[in-house]
Amino acid sequence: MSESTACSLITGASSGIGAALARGLAAEGRPLVLVARRLERLTDLATCLLAAHGIRVEVIALDLATPEAVQQLLAELAARQLVVHTLVNNAGFGLRGGFQQATWPEVQRMLQLMVEVPTQLMQAVLPGMQAAQQGRILNVASLAGLIPGLPGSCLYSASKAYLIRLSQSLAAENRSLGIRVMVLCPGYVHTEFHAVLGVEERMRRLPALFWMESAQVADRALKALDGSRVVVVPGLINKVMAALAMSLPEPLAVGLSSRFSRRYRTRASQGLSRSD
Ligand SMILES: NC(=O)c1ccc[n+]([C@@H]2O[C@H](COP(=O)([O-])OP(=O)(O)OC[C@H]3O[C@@H](n4cnc5c(N)ncnc54)[C@H](OP(=O)(O)O)[C@@H]3O)[C@@H](O)[C@H]2O)c1
Repeated sequence: MSESTACSLITGASSGIGAALARGLAAEGRPLVLVARRLERLTDLATCLLAAHGIRVEVIALDLATPEAVQQLLAELAARQLVVHTLVNNAGFGLRGGFQQATWPEVQRMLQLMVEVPTQLMQAVLPGMQAAQQGRILNVASLAGLIPGLPGSCLYSASKAYLIRLSQSLAAENRSLGIRVMVLCPGYVHTEFHAVLGVEERMRRLPALFWMESAQVADRALKALDGSRVVVVPGLINKVMAALAMSLPEPLAVGLSSRFSRRYRTRASQGLSRSD
C-alpha cells in the first residue's frame, strides 16, 4: 500500500486572504489542497503555484456551507492519499443587516461554514497530528471576534469569537503534543469580502490607515505561525483596537465599538445611505 502524503489544506482559497495564504504556504514546498466553490479561480491559482514552486496542488470545488460538505472533503482527501499537516480554516462571509433580518437558511449557512466546518475539520485532523506529534492549525477569525458590541455584526462576531476561544483551548490541549494552533484576527483587509457583503462603496469611506492588503496579512500570519503566540492581530491600529477592547471596562468598550460601528458599518450593512 502506498504512503499518504502530508499536505496543507486551505479553505476559501479562491480569493483574498485564503489565496494569499496559499501563495505563502506554497513556498514551503508541501503539497497544497485548495478548497472553495469557484473551480476556475482555484484552477488558475493552482496553475500559478505549480509553475512558481513545482509543487503538487489539488483543487476541490465544494460548497462548504452544506451539511455533508466536510465528509465529502475528507473522502476526497482519502481518495487522493493526502493527510493534513497544516489546516487553514479561512472560508467565510458576512451577513448584511441586523440579527433578525437574516433568514433562517442564511443563519444556518453562516453557522455551518464558520462554526461547524472548522470544528469538524479540526476534529478530523487532530488525531493524525497527535499521532505524528506534529501539525499546524491556522484559524482565520477577525478583530470582530475580540471586540464586544458590534451592531450589524451579531452572528459574524459571535462565530469569530467562538473560533478564537476554541483555538485558545485547542492550543492549550495540544501544545505539549507538538501541534501549533494559532488564530488570526485581522481588521479590515482589501479582499472581495465587502463586495460579497454588498457594502464596498460605503467601506471606501473608511480611512486608509484601517486597511491592510491580503498579502501583508498572510505574510504576518505565516511568520507568526513559526512563533508561539496563539491570538495574532496583524497591524498596529488593529493591535491598539484589540488591546482597548480587552483592557477597557466592558461598558466603555461596548460604547466605543458601537459608535465606531454605527459610523462606518451599520448603515452600510443595513443598506442605508448617509442621507437616510
Ligand atoms: N476582508 C476583511 O476585512 C476580513 C477581516 C477579518 C477577517 N476576515 C476573514 O477572512 C476570511 C477570508 O475572507 P476574505 O476577506 O479573504 O474574503 P473573500 O475574498 O470574500 O474570500 C472568502 C473565501 O471564502 C470562500 N467561501 C465563501 N463561502 C464559501 C462556501 N460556502 N464554501 C466554500 N468556500 C466559501 C470564498 O470562495 P468561493 O466564493 O469561491 O466559494 C473565498 O475563497 C473570512 O473568514 C473572513 O471572515 C476578513
